[in-house]
Amino acid sequence: MNEYQLHDSLFQPDNFPTLTTDRLLLKKLDMSDRENMFSLKSDRETARAMGELPYENTEKAEELIINCQYAYEFKMGINWSIYLKYEFFFIGYIGIWKIDREHFRGEIGYGLLPNARRKGYMEEALKAVIETAFKGLHLHSLEANIDPDNNNSVKLLEKLGFKQEGLLKENYYLDGKFYNTALFSLVR
Ligand SMILES: CC(C)(COP(=O)(O)OP(=O)(O)OC[C@H]1O[C@@H](n2cnc3c(N)ncnc32)[C@H](O)[C@@H]1OP(=O)(O)O)[C@@H](O)C(=O)NCCC(=O)NCCS
Repeated sequence: MNEYQLHDSLFQPDNFPTLTTDRLLLKKLDMSDRENMFSLKSDRETARAMGELPYENTEKAEELIINCQYAYEFKMGINWSIYLKYEFFFIGYIGIWKIDREHFRGEIGYGLLPNARRKGYMEEALKAVIETAFKGLHLHSLEANIDPDNNNSVKLLEKLGFKQEGLLKENYYLDGKFYNTALFSLVR
């Protein structure tokens, strides 16, 4: 019998894992972040890096938030909005947006507003999320799928111990073009 089990307590109502770090508050992504997520994902370069077309209206952000809420309800994802802790100022998003429960594996995604970059905020947020993924949820591995030319993201992942395990050739179609994907992973 397989005794490896996920710790599902983080999915119990009223037990969402709000995370705090030295400078940040990671709270549940909810409808109060509608405008914030729109501002993040309406930026062409940020949306592209996150594998999407830029959002043209806040309804897209609402859809995303509803999907994240379902994912949490069905124990298939945990998504946070990132705030500067003291100012309560939104700076970005991070999530274990896809959880493969059968194989104890999660896929992460993240993005910062352009003027919140190069301050170490995502490193701080991702460290907290990795700890939650492995210690809190008891996942066994994490993956990130990114554009191989996204140097800032490559640097961030490598800094936190992720290793590139593959390069998928033209597996991602967006806006009339096929893109390569670098597959990074971190094993517990
Ligand atoms: C990928 C992304 C999150 C990386 O953001 P970032 O701010 O560069 O990442 P980090 O939090 O690791 O910060 C590192 C930078 O902060 C600097 N820094 C400044 N103060 C720091 C501190 N106190 N602690 C750590 N680093 C600090 C580091 O020197 C480094 O800068 P450098 O690259 O010029 O050396 C950001 O570029 C982004 O949002 N891109 C668009 C979305 C995206 O690509 N998402 C990934 C695909 S899902």
